[in-house]
Order: sequence, then C-alpha cells, then structure tokens
Amino acid sequence: MDDTGSVLMHLTQITKTFGAPPEVINILDTSDFTITRGMTLAVVGPSGIGKSTLLNIIGTLDRPDKGKVLFQDQNLLSLRQDQLAVFRNERVGFVFQFHYLLQGFSAMENVMIPGLIARKSKKMVENLAENMLERVGLAERCHHRVEDLSGGEQQRVAIARALVMNPDMLLADEPTGNLDEKNADSIHSLITELNKELGMTVIVVTHNMKLAHMMEKMVTIQKGKILPAYERD
Ligand SMILES: Nc1ncnc2c1ncn2[C@@H]1O[C@H](COP(=O)(O)OP(=O)(O)O)[C@@H](O)[C@H]1O
Ligand SMILES: [Mg+2]
Repeated sequence: MDDTGSVLMHLTQITKTFGAPPEVINILDTSDFTITRGMTLAVVGPSGIGKSTLLNIIGTLDRPDKGKVLFQDQNLLSLRQDQLAVFRNERVGFVFQFHYLLQGFSAMENVMIPGLIARKSKKMVENLAENMLERVGLAERCHHRVEDLSGGEQQRVAIARALVMNPDMLLADEPTGNLDEKNADSIHSLITELNKELGMTVIVVTHNMKLAHMMEKMVTIQKGKILPAYERD
C-alpha cells in the first residue's frame, strides 16, 4: 500500500525548557505539528533557536516537558527506555554532522550494527549492508576501515547505516556541515534520491540553503514556535 502523505507523526503543544529557576530558558512552545509519510522537511535558522532540540524530540533522543509526541497514534512519551530503543532501531535513521562511525571497523561492519542489534541473522544483515553500501556508491569500499575513507565517504557510510533497517524517517542534523561544497552537493542529491526510491520521511536541520531548498517544506523556530520559513538563512 502506498500511504505516502498519511500522518506519520503528530506533535501536540510541545514545550521544552532547559535549566532550573531562576535561569530557565524556554526553547520550544509549539502549536500542533504534523509530519506526513514520505515528506521532506528542512528546519533552518540561526544557531541556538532549538532546531536540534526539536529533531531530538522527534527522534526520541530527548523528551519535551509537556505535550504529546504521537507516532501513528501511539504516544512515544509513554514508552519505556527499552521500547524507545526498539522504536529508534526500527523506525528512525539518524545522521549527524560528525559521522559517529566506529573507528577500527570496516564500512560493512558499521552498517551491519543496526541489524545485529535487531537480532536479524548475520547473513541477512550482511546482504542488507552490502546493498545499502552499494546504493550509496561505496561498493568498492565495503571492507575498508572507516578511518581510511574520505569525509564524504564516511558520511555516505553514516547514511547507509541510518537507512539499512528501512526506517520510516531519516533525521539528519547538519549532515553536510563538515564537508566541502562538492561533497556536500553530492550528499544532498543522494538524500533526495533515496527519499524518492525508499519513500522515507526526511527531516534535515541545516544551514545549507541549497539543501534546504531541495526539501518540499521549510520551517524555522521563532520564540519556540514552528513557523514556515521563506527567506534565505
Ligand atoms: N542539554 C542542554 N542543557 C542546557 N541547555 C541546552 C541543552 N541543549 C540545548 N541547550 C540550549 O538550548 C538552545 C537551543 O539549542 P539547540 O536545539 O541545540 O539549537 P540549534 O540546533 O538551533 O542551534 C541553545 O541555547 C542551547 O544552548
Ligand atoms: Mg543544532
């Protein structure tokens, strides 16, 4: 069934503060926000406005103080830590500015990790990892240690690792913030191609307006509210 465009997640009136009185800072104070299946969304704007905080709440790496985080009508905030770990393993792929690959291990081994955590058979996990690495253009690099790869290649490995379990969402926080323009451009194209091929929802936090404009929708955060963004950063 092609359910592209159906509601995947719904955030209701999320608030998030950091600190303790009298030094409390309000980061998020949102209205309702809907994430649809297959959409591509850029979150843009200056540093410190809460972009990463929002992404981390969507990916359940952080919790809001108030509100609901619904994933297909299930409130993720009521799940236990072990259930959240399963949710993240199966449903979400994360890519960060720094790749966080395991040094000393090959590209294959790194991309196999999510499948091994999910206790899939080794053979199956190897096949999935190999196919994904091939898809991101690293068929020839599978058995190289990640520290021997270039920055652009390392980020491709991170994308392969994020997508190997065929998640519903790819959440990327400044995925090309550490790359030169040429490598960044090719990662941007890869992300949009993979969205079309695999159909996962893509949410990117980025300062790169080329990437932001490749997404269907662009939002920013102002005084804690999620608002449409129109201007160039
Ligand atoms: N764990 C934390 N403890 C205290 N303050 C934090 C924490 N995480 C983020 N902040 C603060 O919240 C604000 C928003 O952070 P963040 O979401 O990382 O912004 P952005 O990604 O837009 O740069 C910043 O002022 C940051 O310093
Ligand atoms: Mg950030």
